[in-house]
Amino acid sequence: MKVLVLNGSPKTKSDTMRLTRSFLDGLTSETACEVTIVDVIKKNVKPCIGCFGCWKNGDGKCVQKDDQNDILSAYSEADVIIWSFPLYCYSMPSHLKAVMDRTIPLVKMSMKEIDGRVQHDALIDFSKKRTLVICGAGFPNWEGNFEGIRKQCQLSFGDPDMVFVPETPLMNVPAAEPLTAPLLARFREAGKEYAHSRSLSSETIQALETPMMPNEAYLQNINSGT
Ligand SMILES: Cc1cc2nc3c(=O)[nH]c(=O)nc-3n(C[C@H](O)[C@H](O)[C@H](O)COP(=O)(O)O)c2cc1C
Repeated sequence: MKVLVLNGSPKTKSDTMRLTRSFLDGLTSETACEVTIVDVIKKNVKPCIGCFGCWKNGDGKCVQKDDQNDILSAYSEADVIIWSFPLYCYSMPSHLKAVMDRTIPLVKMSMKEIDGRVQHDALIDFSKKRTLVICGAGFPNWEGNFEGIRKQCQLSFGDPDMVFVPETPLMNVPAAEPLTAPLLARFREAGKEYAHSRSLSSETIQALETPMMPNEAYLQNINSGT
C-alpha cells in the first residue's frame, strides 16, 4: 500500500506529526506500506495562478514549473493520502492550501450534479483512494473551532476520515507525558485498525478527539504559562 503524508506543519517538531507518526507506526506494523512524507514547507509550491492551463492541457500537470508536479505524481500513485496539519485560523496553513488548490489538474473542467452537490469529473481514478485528515489545534475542545475545516475537507476530499485533536501543543511538553502517551498509544492502535479496514470507526475517532485534559485546566495552564 502506498501512503502519501502531506505534512503541513512548518515546524521541525510538529505536534500533529507526533500523532501522525504514531498512527503510521501502527499502520506499518500491520501491513506492508511504502510511506512517503512530504514536508510541504520545504517544497517550492507557489500559489495557483488561476490560468486553467492544466484543464486546457488535460495532462494532469500544472503549467507552473515548481515542486507541485512531483507532489501530483505521488498523489496520483498513492492508495492513501494523509493530510497532517495544524489548524491555522480555522483552516489549513497557507503553504498546504496552495498544494490543495493545485490538485485541480487532477480533475477536468466538466462538472456534474449528484445529490445536490456539484463536482468536477475526475481525470484520474479516485475511486480506490482513501483520504485521512489529522489536524492538531491549540485551543481546548469546542466544536466551532473545527467547523470550517471539517466542511472544507469533507467537500474537497469527498467525505474522508477526519480526526480533529484539541490541545496538541501538549504533545511537545515533556511534563505532559502522562497525558500524551495514552493518546499516542490510541493513535498507534488507530493505525492498526486502518491497516485492516482502511477507515476509522466513529468510536475510534471519538477516542482520538477526546481532550487530554479538561478545558478549564488546559486554559488555566496556558494562562499561567506552565
Ligand atoms: C498562525 C497560527 C494560527 C493558529 N490558529 C489556530 C486556530 O484557529 N485554532 C486553534 O485551535 N489553534 C490555532 N493555532 C495553534 C496550532 O494549531 C497549534 O499550536 C498546533 O499544536 C501546532 O501544531 P504543529 O506543531 O503540528 O504545527 C494556530 C497557530 C498559528 C501559528
